[in-house]
Amino acid sequence: MKNIILIAAPAAGKGTQAKLIEEKYGLIHISTGDLLRSEVSSNSELGIELDKIMKKGQLVSDEIVEDLLRKKINSSNSNGFVLEGYPRNLNQASRLDVILNEINKKIDYVIYLDVPFEIALKRSSGRLQCKYCGKIYNLNDEKLRPLKNGICNNCGKEIYQRNDDNEESFKIRFNTYLENTKPLIDYYKSKGLLKEVDSSKDCYTVFSSIENIIGK
Ligand code: AP5
Repeated sequence: MKNIILIAAPAAGKGTQAKLIEEKYGLIHISTGDLLRSEVSSNSELGIELDKIMKKGQLVSDEIVEDLLRKKINSSNSNGFVLEGYPRNLNQASRLDVILNEINKKIDYVIYLDVPFEIALKRSSGRLQCKYCGKIYNLNDEKLRPLKNGICNNCGKEIYQRNDDNEESFKIRFNTYLENTKPLIDYYKSKGLLKEVDSSKDCYTVFSSIENIIGK
């Protein structure tokens, strides 16, 4: 059993790598971004409020995200989980310690996917995602393009562009990351859990570096 956290700037490749880890190691993939987007698609009162915040590239309140995370993490299987998008700040990191302690789980690795601003911005501008199965594509990378325009390779459903994947929102997300999330690197380094991977390489080279950490 392995419990892994991926930390990175927006559009660095967390969701992409988490899916590859899920497939290879049988871990449950938990993305707080996906949990929030699913609440938005339900069109609930909460979803409408969340949509406004996320469109602007701002962070949702710690309490709302924790509530969604708790429900999902409790359903994680015995193989463990790969968590991305959480924690996003030091308060969330200490809340996560509390949550995991309550359910007798611990973090094995925190993998930091390092990527420069310009590359992340370009990845964000080319991203498309399936609304149904969550598979992620990129129009700027031939290995990551869908086989048929606008259609998911996995489930044949429609793929769409996220409404926070525009330059203005991306810049806010990136600055929020620098201010709130980057300090987590030192937090996990001091706990001896941090591993660093160069995420500017192509996605299979990045995955191979992750396999070297988790074990082939
Ligand atoms: P979230 O969904 O977590 O967004 P994010 O952190 O901005 O991260 P992204 O999903 O943009 O990127 P990613 O790193 O997963 O990259 P991906 O694999 O898709 O959060 C969205 C919003 O929800 C937040 O702004 C906030 O409002 C809210 N939120 C979420 N969690 C929260 C929390 N804990 N607290 C408060 N608020 C929260 O890859 C990007 C693109 O690049 C894709 O097109 C992909 O195909 C491509 N790509 C990936 N890897 C490579 C590669 N190696 N080479 C070339 N292309 C690649």
